[in-house]
Amino acid sequence: MILETIVTSLNADGSAHIAPFGIREQEGLVLIAPFRPSTSLDNLLRAKTAVLNLTDDVRVFAGSLTGRHHWPLRKATQINGWVLQNALAHRELELEKVEEDEVRTKLWFRVVHEQNHQPFRGFNRAQAAVIELAVLVSRLHLLPAAKIDSEIQYLTIAIEKTAGEREQEAWEWLMEAVENFRAEQDGDNFA
Ligand SMILES: Cc1cc2nc3c(=O)[nH]c(=O)nc-3n(C[C@H](O)[C@H](O)[C@H](O)COP(=O)(O)O)c2cc1C
Repeated sequence: MILETIVTSLNADGSAHIAPFGIREQEGLVLIAPFRPSTSLDNLLRAKTAVLNLTDDVRVFAGSLTGRHHWPLRKATQINGWVLQNALAHRELELEKVEEDEVRTKLWFRVVHEQNHQPFRGFNRAQAAVIELAVLVSRLHLLPAAKIDSEIQYLTIAIEKTAGEREQEAWEWLMEAVENFRAEQDGDNFA
């Protein structure tokens, strides 16, 4: 099973880098597998720590893919790292094992501390739709335009029926990213 999380890693200057990652739990360890190139990968290999933030604020997923990198943070408890203030829960991780790969390095982490902050309030379909569109936006350069259009058409149903303000805002950021990507491509075609 893959769980969609926000990973905060440490930049060389001690500041936080925030990025969505789908993680797996295997034999008591957390597996994070970044494709190269990745700032998170560089940070995780250098600092050997990470924070796994579990949040239902999907603006963080959409925002970190669309240039909105500043989210309220506080210091982690047991490791040198940063926790998203609006996380429902977080886990503090230390690097245990690395499997280097030219395409997708595998990093296994041990959980050294975990904390719950807010209760889970229930599934929301618009949150799932934002996560799906965020994944598509992170792969825009790889996917055919027609596939993206048909996915957006389907996901829009959940947005229209079930979104709150946060989901609506996140959706708009991602749709803007799709439009900007297409405008750039059209520009290239006419250049
Ligand atoms: C829900 C979600 C899950 C993602 N999971 C992964 C992942 O497992 N591995 C990966 O390389 N990128 C993943 N991405 C894309 C990265 O978040 C994105 O490429 C990000 O910019 C990471 O690059 P960075 O470390 O340079 O910031 C995911 C994106 C989303 C929206």
